[in-house]
Amino acid sequence: NVRALIGPSILNSDLSRLYEESQKLLDNGADYLHLDVMDGHFVPNLTFGHPVVKCLRSKIKDAFFETHMMVSKPEQWIAPMADAGVNQYTFHIEPVNNVEDICRKIKEHGMKVGLAIKPGTPVAEVEKYVNISDMILIMTVEPGFGGQKFMEDQMIKVKHLREHYPLLNIEVDGGVGPSTINCCANAGANMIVSGTAVIGAQDQAATIKLLRETVQE
Ligand code: DX5
Ligand code: ZN
Repeated sequence: NVRALIGPSILNSDLSRLYEESQKLLDNGADYLHLDVMDGHFVPNLTFGHPVVKCLRSKIKDAFFETHMMVSKPEQWIAPMADAGVNQYTFHIEPVNNVEDICRKIKEHGMKVGLAIKPGTPVAEVEKYVNISDMILIMTVEPGFGGQKFMEDQMIKVKHLREHYPLLNIEVDGGVGPSTINCCANAGANMIVSGTAVIGAQDQAATIKLLRETVQE
């Protein structure tokens, strides 16, 4: 079986305390950090880029950093993000027509490759690249904002991928928390992004543990 990994999103945390919030998540059992990069063009919101990621990396040496690139030109940020210490570069296939080239370039820069699709994109669009990627991200909200409602109708994509690729890393992102984790686990997701549900939890460690145990069962 593929391993259950919990990667909290810091998007809705107190970003003036990015390091403290990130370290707290790791101390509370997060397996990796999911860093949401938005360019105000691919999605109608702005967050942060490689300079901020680099600063965070200078204080957190050993955690696995995934950047979720919600940007129109993913190719442009590969080198700067590699230099910033990113471990996995996950980008959306919708705005690009040279997915293979971008995947190759990401690997040349020593990072793992994640491929993401929005809720309206058919799973077949990303399935054709399964063999050249390390992970597929099935979005369970429209990308752009934390705290939105989980879209259960996206689970059909996760189920489809899990049926055909037992060892594939499949990530879900958007509206995932204790009340929706069962759906994700049953469908076969193994990399779980959770933002507001973890950040806002009374007991962060217990919430992360619950998410992991639900998926690992
Ligand atoms: C949405 C981001 C997600 C999101 C997760 O565009 O990609 O990572 O912030 O936050 P929640 O869990 O609150 O939906
Ligand atoms: Zn994300």
